[in-house]
Amino acid sequence: MEIILADHAGFCFGVKRATDLAISLAKDPEKPLYTLGPLIHNPQVVQRLEDLGIRAIDRVQDVEDGIIIIRSHGVPPRVIDEIKARGLEVIDATCPFVRRAQEYAKQLAEDGYQVIICGDQNHPEVIGIRGSVNSEVLVAKTLDELPQHKLKRKVGVIAQTTLSIQNFKNLISQLVERVDELKVFNTICTTTEERQKAASNLAKKVDLMLVIGGRNSANTNRLVEICRNEGVTTYHIETADELKKEWFENVQRVGVTAGASTPNWIIKEVLSVMSEFNEEKKVVLTEEGKHETEEVKKENEEIMLDHS
Ligand code: F3S
Repeated sequence: MEIILADHAGFCFGVKRATDLAISLAKDPEKPLYTLGPLIHNPQVVQRLEDLGIRAIDRVQDVEDGIIIIRSHGVPPRVIDEIKARGLEVIDATCPFVRRAQEYAKQLAEDGYQVIICGDQNHPEVIGIRGSVNSEVLVAKTLDELPQHKLKRKVGVIAQTTLSIQNFKNLISQLVERVDELKVFNTICTTTEERQKAASNLAKKVDLMLVIGGRNSANTNRLVEICRNEGVTTYHIETADELKKEWFENVQRVGVTAGASTPNWIIKEVLSVMSEFNEEKKVVLTEEGKHETEEVKKENEEIMLDHS
């Protein structure tokens, strides 16, 4: 059995930045540390942060004293104001790509466009973008979800950063026939696109796909969806404990990918357990082998060495 790791998998830039920041603050805490909501959509990482003394809270009102870390999804500006008004400190780990989406949305509204976010209504990132705009913002993934009477003549669209490009293209092509003027900012994060493309390419070449990541992670769930759409049997797991030996019976090639909030130590554990199922112990990185940062590349090389 050959195990192939997708050439883009695991922690993205924004999630790594937020996690590193939180961990560095926990090394020498001057005040109690909190994150507003789980720092990232990965229960195992959230547990590790809690072990380091970083507690996830749901409401700013629950804290009397300390530092609140804003996660990579960002928040509406009024939340930052609320934290400061309570005399608490803020460390803002909003991903720069999310910040850019917030700024584009604001700019569109200021220029008189009806702002539409193509994404999930309840996703924290979308709530943050929506809250950055002073006028009404519509959120939808398809034209059918949009209240037609609210569509203005001038419409401006941005995307939730983790949206699939196909979903975005579909909405744009439907909208272009409905409005007089359409302005589009493609705010889909390249990291997301890269992971989605790599997953889709890999799914075409293997007998089985494993997608590692939090069940509450939107981008991980999309990777699962993309692999299944390629017609390949796909399992979604959070940790190595969920692996079942029988999944791999009579399987020649297994593809492995992971969401942007999945740390490399979880990927390593999964590969390690799979290698025990697999007598040849062969773990291969796809030829393209391109990674966003040298650091991620180095970590992936370490994974290879561990399992060669
Ligand atoms: Fe940022 Fe893209 Fe990750 S928007 S949080 S780098 S998926």
